[in-house]
Amino acid sequence: MIFVTGGAGFIGSNFVLDWLEQSQEPVLNLDALTYAGNLENLASIRHDPRHVFVHGDICDRPLVDRLLAEHRPRAIVHFAAESHVDRSIHGPGAFMRTNIEGTYALLEAARAHWSALDAGEQAAFRFHHVSTDEVYGSLGATDPAFTESHPYEPNSPYSASKAASDHLVRAWHHTYGLPVVTTNCSNNYGPYHFPEKLIPLMIVNALAGKPLPIYGDGQNVRDWLYVRDHASAIRAVLAGGRLGETYNIGGWNEKTNLEIVHTLCDLLDELCPDPAGSYRRLITYVKDRPGHDRRYAIDARKVERELGWRPAETFETGVRKTVQWYLDHADWVAHVQSGSYRDWVDQNYTARQAG
Ligand code: NAD
Ligand code: DAU
Repeated sequence: MIFVTGGAGFIGSNFVLDWLEQSQEPVLNLDALTYAGNLENLASIRHDPRHVFVHGDICDRPLVDRLLAEHRPRAIVHFAAESHVDRSIHGPGAFMRTNIEGTYALLEAARAHWSALDAGEQAAFRFHHVSTDEVYGSLGATDPAFTESHPYEPNSPYSASKAASDHLVRAWHHTYGLPVVTTNCSNNYGPYHFPEKLIPLMIVNALAGKPLPIYGDGQNVRDWLYVRDHASAIRAVLAGGRLGETYNIGGWNEKTNLEIVHTLCDLLDELCPDPAGSYRRLITYVKDRPGHDRRYAIDARKVERELGWRPAETFETGVRKTVQWYLDHADWVAHVQSGSYRDWVDQNYTARQAG
């Protein structure tokens, strides 16, 4: 079996669902069910005996040791993290704990487990660390896209904590020989995306007739990848990535935030027209994110050259599926917009002056 951490979050749950569609190999899924973890994402596999869910914390070393001894996974795929940049600005502590200390605890547990395996099992074992393009910092408008050798220049508490975790993973390979691979991926979007992030926030706000808050001038650029394409990239790297290597994963889809919001409004105008007029009327410029990275762009040629991976979705196909998914899953949206979600929206947006 494989051992997934954070498999009730956005990307982790999509990965688990994708894995069980593609393979018969069971998944052990450890997740602390923070505000971002949601068992409803996994409702379709609730009765699937190939999925073993454990509610717990990656920092809980005795728990992780016990799970490794009991289930003897052949690989760990590590998604668990605090993932939202704005939350890291309001409260960085949780990011240091989970992203740095949690990765450290998991690496030490993996090392103890791997050291006790026989030679064949040791050779087959993998620790796959799921990371982000944000560790590379920000690009100028005409800079070439990030390659794997781009220097680390993290700018937010979130990206600094992810950069630290990447360095730990690298060191555990270099020093102890732990068989690791790391993927650094661009912005994901798709089903089960928690509506604190740009794309789902804009969809749910638009449908509720609320303002669509654009930070700064809306010209920041991100490189968007459909989440199931990220899952297929992780499968490819887990199966064939070279040990100790890092692979950049991206969608070749650079868009400004304003372009994204216009696209979402236009799709909603088509699929769910509002008698009050185009959803574009709700666009509102608000105070910028402190330290807001201007542009991310991923050069994903290495993973294509070595492993033959390319995204299956274009932005146009992926974003249409995503908008339709939110229209079809009003219950899921209503359930995640609980009291703690409303508290976050108040904290992040009420203080931002319009204009
Ligand atoms: P998410 O916030 O949606 O989910 C994170 C999951 O981790 C949640 O289920 C949460 O309950 C769990 N978790 C948090 N702390 C934990 C702990 N201490 N122990 C166990 N579980 C814990 O995040 P996501 O967007 O799905 O991101 C998953 C991973 O992919 C992260 O490592 C993130 O840095 C990385 N990543 C995300 C993106 C993106 O666009 N979302 C892009 C590149 C990389
Ligand atoms: O690049 C990969 C990263 O992408 C991941 O590592 C992170 O986990 C993930 O959250 C994401 O980070 P971003 O900061 O790029 O994503 P977010 O959706 O928060 O913001 C995308 C862009 O939209 C960014 O330029 C900020 C802007 N934005 C965001 C929100 C929430 C707005 O203009 N308004 C908003 O309300």
